[in-house]
Amino acid sequence: MTDQQLPSYFLTFEGIDGAGKSSHIGAVRDHFVAQGRSVVVTREPGGTPLAEALRHLVLHDSMDPLTEALLVFAARRDHLLHVITPALARGDVVICDRFTDSTFAYQGFGREFPLAVLEQLEQWVQADLQPDLTLWFDLRPEIASVRLAGARQPDRFESEQLAFFGRVRAGYVARSQKYPARFVRIDGEGEKHEIWQRIDTVLAHLAIDHHT
Ligand code: TYD
Repeated sequence: MTDQQLPSYFLTFEGIDGAGKSSHIGAVRDHFVAQGRSVVVTREPGGTPLAEALRHLVLHDSMDPLTEALLVFAARRDHLLHVITPALARGDVVICDRFTDSTFAYQGFGREFPLAVLEQLEQWVQADLQPDLTLWFDLRPEIASVRLAGARQPDRFESEQLAFFGRVRAGYVARSQKYPARFVRIDGEGEKHEIWQRIDTVLAHLAIDHHT
């Protein structure tokens, strides 16, 4: 990093399907662009041609939980190498729709796949890289499922039962307890503009030092 370069910032969006996270990504990008930052918006699984191909398999093909975990981490590896790490090295703001917290929540808690194996994969794939900030959109699964209903053809995760999303939500609670410094819970209940107000308050309090 040169003296003039702004510090990179890695921000992730998390939450159960239907919690409403994706609809605020554009406004968060605009917030950073207005500050003169270069912003990369991306998603997981996905963000590179290979990772998008793996995403299609993970969302639509049946497979055992280990295969699923390996594929999301394989997609993450490619995404990190080709998009996230270079962007952070340039000093960009990277906004990623889902990251490893999704793997712990969905594969670990939702599918009840051993967390110790996920921790090992996490270490191999990303070493100690963690987001600087994780906006966790928290909504009761009963409400989220109403929002999802009829939206479109459900994928392998969206078609899961309420109990699955109850476990996924518990996974997010566990991750937020493990990483309290980077996790911010956004109450996902209410109108879109009310939820944006909650996000805006968090962004206003971000202490990003522009001159380190
Ligand atoms: P999502 O990000 O909600 O995108 P869309 O709004 O287009 O459906 O969908 C991605 C799905 O992938 C979501 O159901 C969670 C799942 N997922 C995992 O199971 N593990 C992971 O590690 C990641 C990143 C996502």
